[in-house]
Amino acid sequence: MAQLSLRGIKKRFRNTEVLHGIDLEIGDREFVVFVGPSGCGKSTLLRLIAGLDPMTDGEFLLNGRRMNEVPPSRRGIAMVFQSYALYPHMDVYENMAFGARLMGLDKAEVERRIAETTRMLRLEELLQRKPRELSGGQRQRVAIGRALVRKPEVFLLDEPLSNLDAALRSEVRLEIARLHHDIGGTMIYVTHDQVEAMTLADKIVVMNAGRIEQVGSPRELYETPANTFVATFIGSPRMTLLDVTRDGERLVMADGGSIAVGALPAGSAFRLGLRSDAVRLARGQGDGFAGQVVYTEYLGDNAYVYVRLADGTLLAARTAPNDSFAPDEPVTVRVDPGSVHFFSAEDGRRLTQQAAE
Ligand SMILES: Nc1ncnc2c1ncn2[C@@H]1O[C@H](COP(=O)(O)OP(=O)(O)OP(=O)(O)O)[C@@H](O)[C@H]1O
Ligand SMILES: [Mg+2]
Repeated sequence: MAQLSLRGIKKRFRNTEVLHGIDLEIGDREFVVFVGPSGCGKSTLLRLIAGLDPMTDGEFLLNGRRMNEVPPSRRGIAMVFQSYALYPHMDVYENMAFGARLMGLDKAEVERRIAETTRMLRLEELLQRKPRELSGGQRQRVAIGRALVRKPEVFLLDEPLSNLDAALRSEVRLEIARLHHDIGGTMIYVTHDQVEAMTLADKIVVMNAGRIEQVGSPRELYETPANTFVATFIGSPRMTLLDVTRDGERLVMADGGSIAVGALPAGSAFRLGLRSDAVRLARGQGDGFAGQVVYTEYLGDNAYVYVRLADGTLLAARTAPNDSFAPDEPVTVRVDPGSVHFFSAEDGRRLTQQAAE
């Protein structure tokens, strides 16, 4: 059982504050994914939870017990670093045994745990090898195994797949999902990869510049982003944001046409959010937003057409793979009224639509 409460956590390095007050509840057995731009404080927060660095302010509770003064080795938390950090002169067995022995486990227990872990991670054939004799994916599995033999209640993984090629990434990703299912611990996982975040997470925490922007399930973040930061961070290609003004029932783009979308929020100027699957392209000029094709990305099962709108915004539209649009071709953009997002033009907060009268 491992339930975590982070309360008002701040971190300062010399005079620079990099975490500005993090409040977060993580439930037992939850798989939580931290995402956010480089430098926003993800690794720093993991290190504070693991106890590797002291926090400047705030409190971390594990199952209701304050952990601030508890040393890392007594927290029941294991961290897998992005860089693996395996001991190069030790073989796979020794790499896994080392931490377990430091915990004071006897020889038989260490052996039992390593046997169990190597079976789970399919490392049996590799026990006598040194790290340099392993592939990237195998090293990653050893790093995870080394954390597992400690039987942590909480598992922290900092971009564990970032050094792997695409095929291995998806293989190890499945292994991590299975591992979470099998061991049932609480996991906090940092990634830059949208697919990992969306597929693994029960809950995604979107961070930006030392603060949490939004916490929610993958579906909540995708369907109801709290602001333009989350809206453009989650989802690929990025959501297009377009400044529009209201003219009666229609939304007007500067110099480039208008559309009707039904229910609108209160106010007269908005930032309209369009995901690639919420827009339809028609050839030539017509009723809608005017634009010009810039280029097309063909992906086999579908294609993305990038369109420069009259106000200069670049819009991504998902199309059928055999809808070929030529560069410079004039197009009209129409939207699916049920799939648009509205944000405040001032501060980017999500606005709710009001039922049409
Ligand atoms: N030991 C340190 N001393 C001073 N500043 C630090 C230290 N460690 C991290 N920082 C700063 O804290 C901020 C957050 O860093 P952190 O490593 O947590 O970012 P991150 O979100 O993990 O980024 P990335 O996605 O690139 O790994 C950065 O501005 C970084 O330069
Ligand atoms: Mg980091």
